[in-house]
Amino acid sequence: MKKPKSSAPSEAPQRAGLAAARAEHARLQAEIAAHDQSYYAEDAPTVSDAEYDALRRRYEALEAQFPDLVTPDSLTQKVGVAPSEKFAKVRHKVPMLSLGNVFSDAEVEDFVARVRRFLGLPAEAPLAITAEPKIDGLSCSLRFEDGALVQAATRGDGFEGEDVTANVRTIGEIPHHLKDKPPAIFEVRGEVYMTHADFAALNRRQAEAGKPVFANPRNAAAGSLRQLDPAITAQRPLHFFAYAWGEASALPADTQMGMVRAFKHYGLPVNPLMVLCHSAEDLLAHYRAIEEQRATLGYDIDGVVYKVDSLALQNRLGFVSRSPRWATAHKFPAEKATTILHDIEIQVGRTGALTPVARLEPITVGGVVVSNATLHNEDEIARKDIRIGDTVIIQRAGDVIPQVLGPVLEKRPAHSHPYKFPEICPVCGSAAIREIDEKTGVADVVRRCTGSLICPAQAVEKLKHFASRLAFDIEGLGDKQIEQFYHDGLIMTPPDIFTLEARDKRSLKKLKDREGYGETSVRNLFAAIDARRNVPLNRFIYALGIRHIGETNARRLARHFGSFDALREVARHAELGSEARSEIENIEGLGGVVAEALADFFGEKHNETVLDALLKEVTPQPMEAVASASPVAGKTVVFTGALEQMTRDEAKAQAERLGAKVAGSVSKKTDLVVAGPGAGSKLAKAEEYGIETISEADWLKLIGEG
Ligand code: IVH
Repeated sequence: MKKPKSSAPSEAPQRAGLAAARAEHARLQAEIAAHDQSYYAEDAPTVSDAEYDALRRRYEALEAQFPDLVTPDSLTQKVGVAPSEKFAKVRHKVPMLSLGNVFSDAEVEDFVARVRRFLGLPAEAPLAITAEPKIDGLSCSLRFEDGALVQAATRGDGFEGEDVTANVRTIGEIPHHLKDKPPAIFEVRGEVYMTHADFAALNRRQAEAGKPVFANPRNAAAGSLRQLDPAITAQRPLHFFAYAWGEASALPADTQMGMVRAFKHYGLPVNPLMVLCHSAEDLLAHYRAIEEQRATLGYDIDGVVYKVDSLALQNRLGFVSRSPRWATAHKFPAEKATTILHDIEIQVGRTGALTPVARLEPITVGGVVVSNATLHNEDEIARKDIRIGDTVIIQRAGDVIPQVLGPVLEKRPAHSHPYKFPEICPVCGSAAIREIDEKTGVADVVRRCTGSLICPAQAVEKLKHFASRLAFDIEGLGDKQIEQFYHDGLIMTPPDIFTLEARDKRSLKKLKDREGYGETSVRNLFAAIDARRNVPLNRFIYALGIRHIGETNARRLARHFGSFDALREVARHAELGSEARSEIENIEGLGGVVAEALADFFGEKHNETVLDALLKEVTPQPMEAVASASPVAGKTVVFTGALEQMTRDEAKAQAERLGAKVAGSVSKKTDLVVAGPGAGSKLAKAEEYGIETISEADWLKLIGEG
């Protein structure tokens, strides 16, 4: 979004006439209201906080000088928190996670089959799965203590949301007190949404008042809930469906369906279209039934959510990264539209990948304005012969990034040329190449900039990754700040983050004097940086941004090696064919590609230098305890032979959840072998090394499940 030009607040004329002051006051009021609208209703700020505050101060100064300007409409007369204070943050005790997506019947069948396989359920064993609409609103967590609503928070990034308690209290449908005897602590989660009728009426009112209209009911609901003035939220009819929970001191039921019935019993609104199904066929039938009613429901839905009904099974299934294995969202088909492709911009990512992004003539697809879309990669552009200037078909499905499907050839302008993908990095000018796989001889689909060290785009993206939420998670060091600090030469590599304060002390040009900063924000930033000097090892590894090392693989490495020094020592010597290389390859869940990426990273002199500097500033701590109190935490376990009470996948997931490392083969480093019937060479090897060997039943007893 383009930044609208903000009129600079003029110097306060001591004796400005009332007429002039009135005109300025009116102009400022309109401008501040427009910024409020962008920030709170559309979640797209158009000016910096400092600029906004200056406008606000000037507005208040005029009123102080000319009290006649204060009317009931004045922005200073609105109840609630001052807009510049924004919302307080709320850390979710239980993260608010997202759902995986499926789009086709086959994928739904696959979801059910996967659940069965994981649990080791034969085809004839019953498996109940619920199906319910996926509401297109915004999720919200309501905390009840002894039945009373004490806090409401938005999802935010899933770990931290915003405190919207005052606003949620204005939603008539949400009880301030639950009925009957709910658990003493009960966080109920669900979707806040706006109906089509209320959305249309709100937009009519907005238009009549000369205010901007909302693009769709979801934006309207989000804008209304994130109003700093609860009086405004109260005028915007919002609704709520409860469908999940977070922290709970006890659970009133042992099934998903039972929990939703309990919500209803406590007086919370629940969606009437939730049913219990017993097969993929059942799920698909309900999906079709909901799809048929979609247009007449009166509120937006974007798919159907399937959840394994039994909470005990949900527990066994657990999570993969940030989505539950026990649930998925079956999205409605994507919506399509045609528009003009104005340009193809090449973005350079953290690993040097050149990604083509389509710049489009903005167009509304399914209620959302789309002006950028993905073109996937070089081969896709060539295969579809997509050219700049073409009219293209774009597609948008739910919250997936819109994509360009292909050109409308009849509308192709004369004299257009096939697109030539750049062979040099548009940021640093280094050669951009497609690596050839040594084994297959096939070129990688991704073209990468070879300028690693000198490429500013890669450096900046690496820094952003380093400070990001799942890595070092440094509050106040977001993408925008990193870009500025890099641009000004203050932070070029990760260790620079930790020396920033010391350098600032010596510098004449202090950080606190920069635009957008002040004493407090600088103090907070330094404190946030300091607080991360003892980051958990898994985050440290993830933060390095090594190829193929995402959050999950970082945890695997942290669990296996226990310390950064141990990982580094092995990875440094992990040349092809070495023992070190095979140690990494053998870590459960990893393999050759990861081992190679690690060897490459640690084989790079520059990375070693940066790491040495970083380790002077930061001390990685033992991995974030998933369950450090568990008797198997930190142990290396090998499962061999047949398991009778659970599948191999489940055993592995469970052991990892308890902090154990699961290895595929027995070595001297193995602590424990769990052997079932039919165990062969691994058992023999365990005996040879004198490693403790136990049965599946003993294992379950050991971890407290037996
Ligand atoms: S269950 C552990 N049920 O979809 C996951 N989510 O893509 C718990 N949503 O953030 C979520 N309707 O905002 C669930 N019936 C429903 C839903 C639903 C809408 C949203 C929710 C969530 C997102 C995940």
